[in-house]
Amino acid sequence: MTVLSDSELSSHLKKSKAALWSVGALGDPYALVLRGLDDPYPVYEKIRAYGPMSRSRLGTWVTADHGLAHELSRDRRFGVRFKDGRRVAPSVPQFDNSFVGMDAPDHNRLRRIAAPAFLPRVVEQYRAEVEKLCHDLIDQIDTSGEFDLMETFARQVPVNVIASLFGITDENRAQFQRFCKGLTHTLDGNLTLAAARDLSESIEGMNELVGELIEERSARPAGDVISRIQKALDGDKLTTAEAVTICTMLSLGGSETTVNMIGSGILALLDTPGQWDLLKNDPGLSAATVEESLRFDTPVQIQVRVAHEEVEVAGVPLAVDDVVAIINAAANRDPAVYTDPNTFDITRVNPADHLAFSGGAHYCAGAPLARLEGDVAFRALAERLPGLRRAGEVKRRKSGVIRGLLEFPVKVG
Ligand code: HEM
Repeated sequence: MTVLSDSELSSHLKKSKAALWSVGALGDPYALVLRGLDDPYPVYEKIRAYGPMSRSRLGTWVTADHGLAHELSRDRRFGVRFKDGRRVAPSVPQFDNSFVGMDAPDHNRLRRIAAPAFLPRVVEQYRAEVEKLCHDLIDQIDTSGEFDLMETFARQVPVNVIASLFGITDENRAQFQRFCKGLTHTLDGNLTLAAARDLSESIEGMNELVGELIEERSARPAGDVISRIQKALDGDKLTTAEAVTICTMLSLGGSETTVNMIGSGILALLDTPGQWDLLKNDPGLSAATVEESLRFDTPVQIQVRVAHEEVEVAGVPLAVDDVVAIINAAANRDPAVYTDPNTFDITRVNPADHLAFSGGAHYCAGAPLARLEGDVAFRALAERLPGLRRAGEVKRRKSGVIRGLLEFPVKVG
C-alpha cells in the first residue's frame, strides 16, 4: 500500500475545503456545520425550522427529525455509497475496504466476521479488565494541581481496551497508541498538510503492525479479535487487505468515539448544576449517564445515506443517488421526543431512545463495548475523584462530524 504524495494530499484537501467555505459563506447551515463549530446546536435548530427534510446548497438533503432519522438509517432502499459503488466523499485509499463505508453484499460479509467479537456477552468478559485499567489510570494522575482529563484518562481508556482486545503486547503498545492517535486526523474536516501526512503514515504503520499480528496468530492462534479475523482469512472469507482494514477501522472507530463520549459526558456532568452530585452520590447512575451523554452531545454527529431507488421521504421525492445527511446529534435533541431536550439530565426517563449508534445495517457493532467502557469510566471517576471540577476552558476538535474535546483542564477539590 502506498502513502499519498504531498501534492496528491494537498490538491484533495484544497478541493474539499474550497467547496465548504464558499457555500458556508452564503449562510448555508449544513455547510456551516461541516466546518466544525464550537456550538453547532443553534444551527441545528435552524435546520429543524426548515422542516423534516431540507436541501443544502451543497446538494445534500438534510434532516434533524428524530422519527425520520430513525427510519432512514434502517431503510434498505438507501446505502452508504452511490448506486454504482462510487464513494460519496473521497476517502483515504487505505480505508476503501472499511465495511462501515460499504453496501451489501460486501458489507454483510465483512460485518459478520468482526461483529460477533463485540456482542454484549462477549464484551462483558472484559469488565474486570476495564475496571482495573480505569482505576490504574486514576492512580497515576497527579491530583495535587490541574490536569488534562483527556490526556490522563479519556484518551487512554479506549485505546488500551482495543489493544487488549487485539492481544497487543506491552512491547507494541506505545506504537499502536501512536498510530491510533494519527488515525484520528481522518475525523477532522479541515486537515493541514502536516496532519494529512501524519494520517497517511499512521495508516501505513498500523497496516504493517496489524499485518504482522495476523501473521503471528496464524502460527499461534489466541482467543483475541485478531485471531478471529485470521481464522476468516484462512477460510478465504476475506482478503488480506480487508483483514488489515477491519483492524485499522476498529482501532479508530473503537477509540475516538468512546474518548469523546467520556470527555463530553464529564463536561456536561460538571457544567450542569446538580448532575455530578447525583452521580457521585449514586454511582449506579453511570449506565444512565452513558445514554444521556450519547444523547446530549452525540460523538458521531452526522451520518450519510444515499437513495438507491426513487423514493419519497417526508413528502420529498428523491432521485437515485440523492444524498441525505442524517444529523443524529440534532435528532437526539428533537423536542417532539425529548422534554427539555437541551438540558443534560441523567435521570431522564427515555435517554436510550437516542440515535448515537445509528441503526439498521450499519448499527454500531461496538455499542456494547462503548457502553461498558462508559459505565465503568463514569463510575470510577465519580467514586475515586468526587471533588472533580473544571479548571479552565476546553479545547474542541474542529470537525463537523466528530464532536469531542482535545483538552479538558480539571482539578480536584
Ligand atoms: C461512544 C462510542 C461510539 C459511538 C458513538 C459510535 C457510533 C457509531 C455510528 C454512528 C456508527 C454508524 C456509522 C454509519 O452508519 O455511517 C458506527 C459504526 C460502527 N462502529 Fe461505532 N461507535 C462507538 C464505539 C465503537 C466501538 C467501541 C467499536 C469497536 C471497537 C465500534 C465499531 C463500529 C463498527 C465496526 C461500525 C461499523 C458498523 C457497520 O458498518 O456495519 N464503535 N459507530
